[in-house]
Amino acid sequence: MKLKILVTAGDGIGPEVTAEAVALLKETAASGGHDFTFTERRIGGVAIVQDGTPLPEDTLKEALDSDAVLLGAVGGNEFNSMPPDKRPEAGLLKIRAELGGFANLRPAFAFKELAVNSPLRPEVIDGADILCVRELLGGLYFGQPRAWDKAKGEAWNTMRYTDGEVARVARIAFQLAQKRRKKLTSVDKANVLEVSQLWRAAVVEIAKEFPDVTLEHQYVDAMAMHLMTRPRDFDVVLTENLFGDILSDESGVITGSLGMLPSATIGGKVNLYEPVHGSAPDIAGKGLANPLGAILTGALILRHSAGLEAEAAAIETGVRKVLEQGFRTPDLARGNTKDFTVLSTKEMGAKVRETVKTLHVNA
Ligand code: IPM
Ligand code: MG
Repeated sequence: MKLKILVTAGDGIGPEVTAEAVALLKETAASGGHDFTFTERRIGGVAIVQDGTPLPEDTLKEALDSDAVLLGAVGGNEFNSMPPDKRPEAGLLKIRAELGGFANLRPAFAFKELAVNSPLRPEVIDGADILCVRELLGGLYFGQPRAWDKAKGEAWNTMRYTDGEVARVARIAFQLAQKRRKKLTSVDKANVLEVSQLWRAAVVEIAKEFPDVTLEHQYVDAMAMHLMTRPRDFDVVLTENLFGDILSDESGVITGSLGMLPSATIGGKVNLYEPVHGSAPDIAGKGLANPLGAILTGALILRHSAGLEAEAAAIETGVRKVLEQGFRTPDLARGNTKDFTVLSTKEMGAKVRETVKTLHVNA
C-alpha cells in the first residue's frame, strides 16, 4: 500500500503530538511492508511568522498532491487581536475549503479507564459511543455576507445552506449509521431558523434512502443537555458546522479529555485528519501534551485513506491497553495518582508503539 501524507504540524503542541502519530505510522508501514511517505509544510501561526500568510501556496499545493493531510493544531495568543481572515485559524479554514471535505467525523466514546477524568458519573457514560458528523464547509463559517462595520458598530455573519450541501453530508452520516447501531440524530434549531427548517427537510428526504436507519431530530439546545444526561442513547449525530463545533467539544467530557479525540474529514479531494483539541500554547514544548488524540487520528488515516482496518483497530486497541496498564499523560492523571505512571508526550508515544507491536497485526 502506497500513501503520500502531508504533515502540517502547525502551532503550540501540534508538532509534539503529530511527531508521535507519524512515528507510529512509520512503524505500521515498516512492519506491514507499506510505502508511506511524509512531507512537512507550514500552516497557521508559524506560517504567518515565516511566510506572511497562514496557508502558504506551497503548503496547499503539496496538500492537493497528497493522499492524506495530517494537521496538528493552529492558533496562538499572539494572534488574538487579528481579524478572523488574517489569523492562524484562517489557514485551517482555507485548507478545509480547498481540500473539499465536507463531512467531519468526530468520534467520542467513553474509555472505562478514564471514567474518573469525566465529571459525569460512570454509570451515565459507561458504554457511550457517539460519532458526530459535523458539516464542515457551510453555515456561519463560510456564509456570505459577513463583515464587521466598525463605523456603524455593527457586524454580521450568515448561516446559509443549500439542499445539496445538507443532502451530501446527510448521506455520509446515514451510511456510517448503517455500519453502526443504525440510529441517526439530526441536530438543528428548526423552531427558530429557516436554515434549520431546510436542514431538517433535506435530512428527511435522504432518510428515505435508508429505511433501516432510525432518524430522530433534536434541537441543539436540548441536545447539549441530552449529551450530558444520556449520552448512551446516541449513535450518529449529524449537525451543521457551528453546532458541531460546539457539541464535539462538549462530547469531549464523555471521553474525559479533549486530548483523546481524533477527527477525519472526508468527501472531498483529499481527506484531512486532525485531532479535535487545539494548540494549547500554555503547555507547548514542555512534553506535557497528550499525543493520544493525534495517534488515534493516525488510526483514522489508516482506516479511511489506506483501507488498513486491522492496523487502525490495532492502534485503537493499543491505546486502550496503555490506559489499562495505568499509563497517563498529565491531563489524564486525575484521581488516585499513585495508581498511574505519568508519562511525557514522547514516552506515551513510545509506549503506544511498543504496545501496538505486541499485537502482531502482520504476524
Ligand atoms: C475545531 C476548531 C476550529 C473550528 C477552529 C480552530 C477554526 O475549533 O476544529 O473544532 O472552529 O472548526
Ligand atoms: Mg472546535
